[in-house]
Amino acid sequence: MSHLDRSKRMMEAGMEYLFGATPYIDPILSYGKGSCVWDVDGNRYLDMNAGQFCMTFGHSYKPFIDRITEQMTEIYHSNTSALSDGIFEASKLMAEINQYNVSKTLFLSTGSEANEAAIRYAKFYTGRNGVASVDKGYHGLTLASQSSTMAGKWSLPKVDGTFSVKTPVYIHSEEKVDEEIFVSDCIKELKHLFNTVGDQLSCFIIEPIIGVGGMAKIPARYLKELRKQCDEYGTVLILDECQCGFGRSGEWFAYQMDGIIPDMVTTAKAMANGLPVSGLTMRKEIAERVEGRLTHFSSHQNDSLAAACVIFVINEIKNRNLLSGNKKKGALLLDAISEVCGMTEGLSNPRGWGLMCGFDIDDTLISDYRQVSGQLREALLKNGALVQAVRQGRTFRVMPSYCITEAEIVEFKELFERSVKEIFSSK
Ligand SMILES: Cc1ncc(COP(=O)(O)O)c(C=O)c1O
Repeated sequence: MSHLDRSKRMMEAGMEYLFGATPYIDPILSYGKGSCVWDVDGNRYLDMNAGQFCMTFGHSYKPFIDRITEQMTEIYHSNTSALSDGIFEASKLMAEINQYNVSKTLFLSTGSEANEAAIRYAKFYTGRNGVASVDKGYHGLTLASQSSTMAGKWSLPKVDGTFSVKTPVYIHSEEKVDEEIFVSDCIKELKHLFNTVGDQLSCFIIEPIIGVGGMAKIPARYLKELRKQCDEYGTVLILDECQCGFGRSGEWFAYQMDGIIPDMVTTAKAMANGLPVSGLTMRKEIAERVEGRLTHFSSHQNDSLAAACVIFVINEIKNRNLLSGNKKKGALLLDAISEVCGMTEGLSNPRGWGLMCGFDIDDTLISDYRQVSGQLREALLKNGALVQAVRQGRTFRVMPSYCITEAEIVEFKELFERSVKEIFSSK
């Protein structure tokens, strides 16, 4: 009998009716508490991805459940034209954590939806159709967001007027130049884009820290040049903070590390501790030009449930001092990851910003990286950790809940080390 016997039987029978949108791993989860989840066979795993990076305070966080239950017994949804309690406070808090530079918020449900709305308003505001992004950006899989995701690789057909430029992420570039030259070349390409089609561009959308595209920070000088170009051409700068925002990096928003001010910020995931809430926050000057002129409707817009989640999450991060906590625990997690990566040549580039950490399978040494990545994920799972990989398995992302304990970081290090020893030969 396998330790996943029950899960396997459930999967086999259950997939008859469930659509397979993505490959599913074996364990079927039935319970979560803090940083851990358990499957239907009773096995325990450290959830190093906090669900899909959404469980800000971990699973079954009692104070959140109590607050949300209380809200559910009062009002949690209203008609789109009728606002309900809490939504004004939530939007004011969104302005506060954006230091009042970007200050009017519309609450929606998913990251894709927030980006779709941002692009829609940028087009209306500028009267232009063009949308630009970097070619390793991930912005969601709805029509416009998908056309800017990975340069529209999976969008059929791609929305007209989408442009992309090379992503200024040196660690994954195949170009044999040094980093300074590489970033300068990316900036040249960016300027060329604006020189040639800048007056057609409604917006440029970019993640300050690229997530799905490879867990890498966009260099400050690139972001500053992008801000300058957007100003010069009247293009709206949308920073997609759906993954890196809301305190994950140790700042409320990753853009605050570089001192640039966006025109729009989109948020999702950590902002609602696992419930489907997203936000589009924009500069007041833009908001006041589009408000009342272009209506935006969706069923779960500005719900009081969303407000209750956002108010709770922001206050809890403040009260528990989790921004500095994420920096401190992020440093411990990165040390642990770096130490284990250092044990084999097969793993490289440990990196992190707060609790947004990653490392690579070195594809210059391991050509069958897809297979090796699968083996490492399997080993981690068997030893007790859930970790996801992106870039066809080449990059692992380690993004636990903000409440992971130091003891759990040590536990992760031990089982990561065990897994690496099973898969790779040591240095
Ligand atoms: C940076 C970024 N933007 C947008 C999205 C899309 O969010 P959702 O899956 O909630 O639509 C994601 C999801 O991973 C993301 O990482």
